[in-house]
Amino acid sequence: MATIISENTISEIKNTADIVDIVSEFVLLKKAGRNFVGLCPFHSEKTPSFTVSPEKQIFYCFGCGVGGNLFSFLMKHNGISFPEAVKMIAGRYGIEIPDQKLSPIQEKRMSERESLFDVNRKALDFFRNVLFNSSEGKRAMAYLEKRGLEEKTICRFNLGYAPSGWDTLVHFFLKKQVPPELIEKSGLIVSKKNKNGFYDRFRNRIIFPIFDVNMQVIGFGGRVLDDSLPKYLNSPETDVYNKSRSLYGLHLARQKCRETGSVFIAEGYLDLLSLHQHGIENSVATLGTALTADHIRLLKGYADRMILVYDSDQAGIRAARRCIDIFWKEHVNFRKEDVFRKENVDTRILVLTDGHDPDSYLLEFGAEAFFNAAKKAPGIISFLMESAIKKYGISVEGKIRIVSELKETLAAIDDGVARSLYIKELAELISIDESAVLEKVREVLVKKKNDIRRINRSNGFPCPNFKGPDNSNKCREKTISEIGSRLERQIISMMLQFPEILPEIDRRNLLDNFEDQLLKSIGQTLLTLKGNFQSRVLSTQPTARDCVHASEIMSRIDDKEIRGIIAALAITENFWDNEGCMKLIAQFEDSRNRSGSDLLRKIKAAEAANDHELLMRLLEEKQKLAVINKQQKLNQRGGK
Ligand code: UTP
Ligand code: MN
Repeated sequence: MATIISENTISEIKNTADIVDIVSEFVLLKKAGRNFVGLCPFHSEKTPSFTVSPEKQIFYCFGCGVGGNLFSFLMKHNGISFPEAVKMIAGRYGIEIPDQKLSPIQEKRMSERESLFDVNRKALDFFRNVLFNSSEGKRAMAYLEKRGLEEKTICRFNLGYAPSGWDTLVHFFLKKQVPPELIEKSGLIVSKKNKNGFYDRFRNRIIFPIFDVNMQVIGFGGRVLDDSLPKYLNSPETDVYNKSRSLYGLHLARQKCRETGSVFIAEGYLDLLSLHQHGIENSVATLGTALTADHIRLLKGYADRMILVYDSDQAGIRAARRCIDIFWKEHVNFRKEDVFRKENVDTRILVLTDGHDPDSYLLEFGAEAFFNAAKKAPGIISFLMESAIKKYGISVEGKIRIVSELKETLAAIDDGVARSLYIKELAELISIDESAVLEKVREVLVKKKNDIRRINRSNGFPCPNFKGPDNSNKCREKTISEIGSRLERQIISMMLQFPEILPEIDRRNLLDNFEDQLLKSIGQTLLTLKGNFQSRVLSTQPTARDCVHASEIMSRIDDKEIRGIIAALAITENFWDNEGCMKLIAQFEDSRNRSGSDLLRKIKAAEAANDHELLMRLLEEKQKLAVINKQQKLNQRGGK
C-alpha cells in the first residue's frame, strides 16, 4: 500500500538504524580504527577505500569520492527512491510506518514505482490463488510435482499459475478499479492491436515471481506446461524491473552467500528452484540475459567467489569470454564509474557433465556430487585454456590456433604477476617456448594501449600517464586532496566535526578569504544550517554530537559531488577542541595576510614590467584585501 511517511517516522528511523549494519548487508566491512572499511561497491578497487563511520553515520569512498548517509547509500546502491529507502530500513528494524488514507490528489502523486510494486503484488496473489484453488491450478501443480518440486519450495518462491482465459487478469484488476494503463506499464497485460482493450500477457503458464532484495515483486516469468513455444515468457523491463541488474532468487540467497562467501550462478528458473531445494541456497539465476557487469557488482557485496554453472562447454566458453569482455570494456571506458576488476572476485566456470543443467544434474546425482564437481571447477582462464586445447588438439597447427585464440584473454589479465604465471602455464601445457606466447600477448597489449589512447583523445579525455590497464584509476573525478588548499579543507572539516566553532567562523567572515569557490559555498551552507545545531550542548563524547550533525547535513544536500566532499571532510579522524580550532583559524588568517605581502611583490614587478593591465588588477586585489584585513582586526579585538 502506498503511504505517506511522517517526519516522526523518519526521525525514529534515523535514531534506530545503524549505517554499519545496513551497509554490511551489501559490502563486506572490516573494522579499521574508529571506522569500518571495505571494497567500494560504486567503483572498482583492489584495496578498500570505502569508509563507513559509525559515529557520524556517514560513508565516504576515498577512491571515487562518493559519500553520504544511510539513505543516500541505499538510494544509490539499490537504485531506489528516498521513500523506498526509508521503508526498507523501517522494515529491517521493525519500525511501523503508519498507513494513512490517501486523498485522490495524493493518490495521483503516489510514485509510479510504488504503484507498480502494488500491481505486481496483487497479481502475485491472484496467480497463487489460481495455482492452489482452481482445477487449472491442479494440473499445474501436478506438473510441478512431476518436475520434482516440493510444496515447500513452491510456497517459498511464491509460484503461481496464469489461467487460460485471454483476459482473466484484466478483469481481476478492473474489479479492483486499477486503471488498465497502469497494469499495462507493469507488463502484465498488453494493449490489443486495434487499441480496443487489453489482454493478459501470461496465459496457461506456471508463474515465477521475481523479487528484489526488499522482497518487492519486480516482474514475472512464465513457463508452459508442455512443449509449446515460447517455453518461457518474461515480463518486459519496467520502471521497477531491470534485467541486467536483477537476479532470480537473490532475495533468498543473500544470507547463505555471505555465510559461505560464494555464490552459484545458474541460468534457469527451475535450476534455481532445484538448487535451493537441494539445500544449495547460495544460488541465483540470471533471467534470460547473459551475466552483466552490474550482476557481478551486485553479487560482489555478498560473496567473493562466483561459480557460473552451465550445461555445455559452449555456454561456459561464451560466459567466460563475456567476463573477459567485461574486464576489457572497463579498461577502455575510464569514466565509467562501476568498473569491475576480476582480482576482487574468484570466478569459476562449472560445466556439468553430459549436457545436464543444475536441475537435471541434481535430480540424477544429488547435491554431494554437485558440490564435488564445483570444487574442481576451474577459473576463467584455466577453463578457456582447457577448452582451447580440447578444441584444437596439440598438433603444430593446433598449438598455433590455441595461442592465437588465447592471446587476447591473457592480455586481459591486468595483474602482471598473474599474467606471466598463466603465460607460463599455457606454454607448459602445450610445450612451446614461453617467450613465443609472451610475444603474441605483448602485441595485443601494445595494440590495446594505442586504442585506448586514441579513444581517450577523441573523447577529449587526455590520459597522459597511462601506462597500461592498471592505471585506469588515475582518470576519475577529483579526489578530495585535489580540491582547494589543505588549510581550506581543514577549516571545512573543522566546521563539520566541531559545529561549536561555527559562530566564530561567521563572526570573522573567514569564508570570504576562501579561494576555492566550492569549499566556500559548502562553508556558507554550513553556516546557514547552523541555526539547527546551535542549541546542541557541548559534550566531551564526540559520538552523540557529530553523529547527527554530518549525517543530518547530508539529508539536506542534493548535489552528489558536494555530498561526497562533505562526507570526505567529515569522516577524517580528527579531535577538535576550542584551542585547536583557534590555532587553525589563526594559521589561516596568517596565510592570507602573507599572501598580502606576496601581492606587494607582484605589484612592484608589474610596475617594473610596465604591465598596466596586470597592475590594475593587482591594485584592485590589494584594495579588497585591505578591507578584509581591517574587518579581521576588528573581529579579533571583539573576540578578546
Ligand atoms: P532453458 O531452455 O535451459 O530452460 O532456459 P530450463 O530453465 O532448463 O527450463 P526447463 O528445465 O526446460 O523447464 C534457461 C532459461 O532461459 C530463459 C529462462 O530464464 C530459462 O529459465 N528462457 C528460456 C527464456 O527467457 N525464454 C525462453 O523461451 C527460454
Ligand atoms: Mn532445465
